[in-house]
Amino acid sequence: MSDSKNLWGGRFAGAADRGFVDFNRSFGFDQRLFAADVRASVAHCNSLATAGVLTGEEATNINGGLQTILDRGIADAGHFDTLEFEDVHSFVESRLVELIGDSGRKLHTGRSRNDQVATDLRLWLREAVDDLVQRVGTAQGAWLDLAESHLGSVLPGYTHLQRAQPILFAHWCLAYFEMLSRDRERLADCRKRVNVLPLGSAALAGTSYPIDRESVARELGFDSVSRNSIDAVSDRDFCVEFVNACSLIMIHLSRLAEDVILYSTTEFGFFELGDAVATGSSLMPQKKNPDSMELVRGKAGRVIGHGTSLLAMLKGLPLAYNKDMQEDKEAMFDSFDTVSACLGVTTTVLRNLSINEERTREAASTGYMNATELADYLVRKGMPFREAHETAGRIVVHAISRGVELHELSIEEMRSLAASIEDDVFASLFLERTLETKSQIGGTSAECVTDALAVARSSLLG
Ligand code: ARG
Repeated sequence: MSDSKNLWGGRFAGAADRGFVDFNRSFGFDQRLFAADVRASVAHCNSLATAGVLTGEEATNINGGLQTILDRGIADAGHFDTLEFEDVHSFVESRLVELIGDSGRKLHTGRSRNDQVATDLRLWLREAVDDLVQRVGTAQGAWLDLAESHLGSVLPGYTHLQRAQPILFAHWCLAYFEMLSRDRERLADCRKRVNVLPLGSAALAGTSYPIDRESVARELGFDSVSRNSIDAVSDRDFCVEFVNACSLIMIHLSRLAEDVILYSTTEFGFFELGDAVATGSSLMPQKKNPDSMELVRGKAGRVIGHGTSLLAMLKGLPLAYNKDMQEDKEAMFDSFDTVSACLGVTTTVLRNLSINEERTREAASTGYMNATELADYLVRKGMPFREAHETAGRIVVHAISRGVELHELSIEEMRSLAASIEDDVFASLFLERTLETKSQIGGTSAECVTDALAVARSSLLG
């Protein structure tokens, strides 16, 4: 028997075009659903037996055959690539018939590949989501370790990529931690809608066999059964949600990548990547290139693209199943693989990142980043904020013209621009003081950041 024997035939007199057969085939990639397909088939077989559609003996034979197929597939997944089946469903069913004979032909009773593929995909995705949640948590752990081992480090904070206000390095780490916390929540939320059983919807109208769908759902660990058979075989919004959650993870990693790349330039000189995650140049001996972070940034585009391709693929589809939907799988698999790999590499980058603390302190102490502090000082002396802002601005212009920092101006120079300034102004301009004042929840004072670190740590454990 040819490996490519298909699941229909009665209606067809002529053979399919060879080029079309190849074009139509998804086994090259949907073999990834193999374990899910077998698992769902076992549950379907059990439900047919309970419904009296299969005898106990037939069900035992079928389940035994499915187990043999699973064992072989797990032991030697490589052999899939040598086979020419249309898809994973036809592969499992053909192998079953080969193994146990005619009773294998009864497995597909009351089932269609339409509800089967939707079930397999949801089973696969549920595990993928759980796996990604773990990986995001691991990356978050690396952020926390980095923050905790550099509690005294500062960074200049930027807006518009212009020096804005000094921040604690740990505060910067926690910003990324927060983004990934929301990413974990998004994945967990998406999982709720993934974990619904389509099996029993058959081709689109539901099944005419008395299958207990609730018990199939329990057996496969689904929280509930789909409420509408047409929707159940047509719905791929759970795929869109997943890929969009992946896109946001990639966007967060990509923004981090950009920060790390920028801060590792000679011009900034704040960070140095570990040798483990950098490359050299074949021509320029001095180079240390942040390829790891550049690839993370670049691959973000790829995952965003998968989200777009899914939306475009679904947009004009009439109900219910259409073969266009076979295109969902590669987008899903590649999104998962890409995000997993990027989380792994990013974790390694963070574990091997050196901070040039002298340089970041120097950068955080210069560039008039304490001008807001000067305005706040004037407010404390009774000046309305708008006037204080303007006055501080004039003092900055004066300092720029003298080529000095604010704290290097004499008290007389300052007083000539704002009479209410006294000697205590200098205390307000110190870097540490600037940081300390940002002491409301979410701010960059050491106390707030220490509290935030503790909360972050326990959120990872919980
Ligand atoms: N390989 C197909 C897919 O991925 C499986 C479902 C086929 N259903 C059908 N009616 N031809 O969508």
